[in-house]
Amino acid sequence: MHSAFDTAPSASSVPIIFATKATWDATCDELAPLARQFAQANGFAAKPGACLTLPTLQGHIAQVLFGLEDATSTTRDLFRPGLLPGLLPPGTYRFANAPHDTRLAALAFALGSYRFGRYRKSDAREVKLAPPDGIDIAAITRMADAVTLARDLINTPSNDMGPEQLALAAQHLAQRFGADFNCIVGDDLVRQNFPLIHAVGMASSRPPRLIDLSWGDPAHPRVTLVGKGVCFDTGGLDLKPSAGMLIMKKDMGGAANVLALAMMVMDARLKIRLRVLIPAVENAVAGNAFRPLDIFPSRKGFNVEIGNTDAEGRLILADALALADEEKPDLLIDLGTLTGAARVALGPDLPPFYTNDETLSEDVARCAKAENDPLWRLPLWPPYDSWLDSKVADLNNAPSGTFAGSITCALFLQRFVEHARSWLHVDIYGWTPVAKPARPEGGECQAARAIFKLLGERYG
Ligand code: BES
Ligand code: MN
Ligand code: ZN
Repeated sequence: MHSAFDTAPSASSVPIIFATKATWDATCDELAPLARQFAQANGFAAKPGACLTLPTLQGHIAQVLFGLEDATSTTRDLFRPGLLPGLLPPGTYRFANAPHDTRLAALAFALGSYRFGRYRKSDAREVKLAPPDGIDIAAITRMADAVTLARDLINTPSNDMGPEQLALAAQHLAQRFGADFNCIVGDDLVRQNFPLIHAVGMASSRPPRLIDLSWGDPAHPRVTLVGKGVCFDTGGLDLKPSAGMLIMKKDMGGAANVLALAMMVMDARLKIRLRVLIPAVENAVAGNAFRPLDIFPSRKGFNVEIGNTDAEGRLILADALALADEEKPDLLIDLGTLTGAARVALGPDLPPFYTNDETLSEDVARCAKAENDPLWRLPLWPPYDSWLDSKVADLNNAPSGTFAGSITCALFLQRFVEHARSWLHVDIYGWTPVAKPARPEGGECQAARAIFKLLGERYG
């Protein structure tokens, strides 16, 4: 895989000097007179994200100045150095002084080097970073590679990323790390009692499937990851309007992120028994599509009334969670791009998470912060549980009101989790709508790095 790091840099790597508005005068005083003059002539004032290359007398690049937020700024972005690969000319660079967080700055540099090059010759230039001292570059590369995997899977359009291709990506990962791989396809889903996965996926000419990957010592604590793998979400017969459908290739973002997380776990050889379950479907429109007010049985035994065919993610996750729950895992985690309501509540960059395990909640919040992979807790609010009631079946997949949509989705999923010691649900967005430092526009890895930190602390 492409690396943003130059692990054998020559002596000629170009120093990047970080400065803030508060430190700029002192930094400026230390520059050689020519450099100082050049910076002043360019009006460089260390504004966050400002970048200036300083020349040598021969016209080469001697140094780079880069502006960061003040150390005390409340809007400090620790990924700000992720802008550098897009700003600098080709070459190898090094940090001349410490940014606010050197590890996250190096990670940001790698994440900011990402380009989706599958369909167009990459315009990426070779901008490399010499590993900063005292930083575990293998650990950073592990994370960067996982982010690249998630982004590539999400960015690949649905015509090349259907349920089968998603399964192939999982199989490829399984082979690479010696994991067991199994897949239940099409009508076998009915025979093996996954009625909801089948119901959602059957209208597509690309059959639905349940991907099942296992890795690690069976004697270790059992951690199971479940990811929503809707390879395209038209909404079904409750068809989405075109603006809402436009980026629905990203609706397998949960699957992409559990695969990214699994890759980090296996690469780091954490002491867990890992299982990854991905219901992979396309929510399509056809004569045999499932319909509003249809009623289907579920693996758990509940009959589920379809209030809305566009609430398909929770249906496929319900059957996968029920299967996961049967072996009483120590920790059960699901990720999915489940509701527009999560984005309305918290925006695209701050996914809500849900759990009733207070220790887990604190750990998730802390790890999310430490990894700059933000997550925010919302409640599994018991009084809203009755909103899921159906007049004719055991429950309805889409309450009629429009209130608290992310919470009611989480409560729906909770009905299918009974035996797991601890359960975490994250309603991710999986997409960066407008490029930010270290986060190019398009598919995004969300929650996987935070959860990897948590698993590393518990099972490292
Ligand atoms: N995949 C969507 C959720 C989504 C939509 C995520 C837009 C990000 C952006 C999901 O399958 C969906 O359509 N959810 C519905 C649920 C509703 C019908 C109860 C939604 O959020 O509108
Ligand atoms: Mn939908
Ligand atoms: Zn969906």
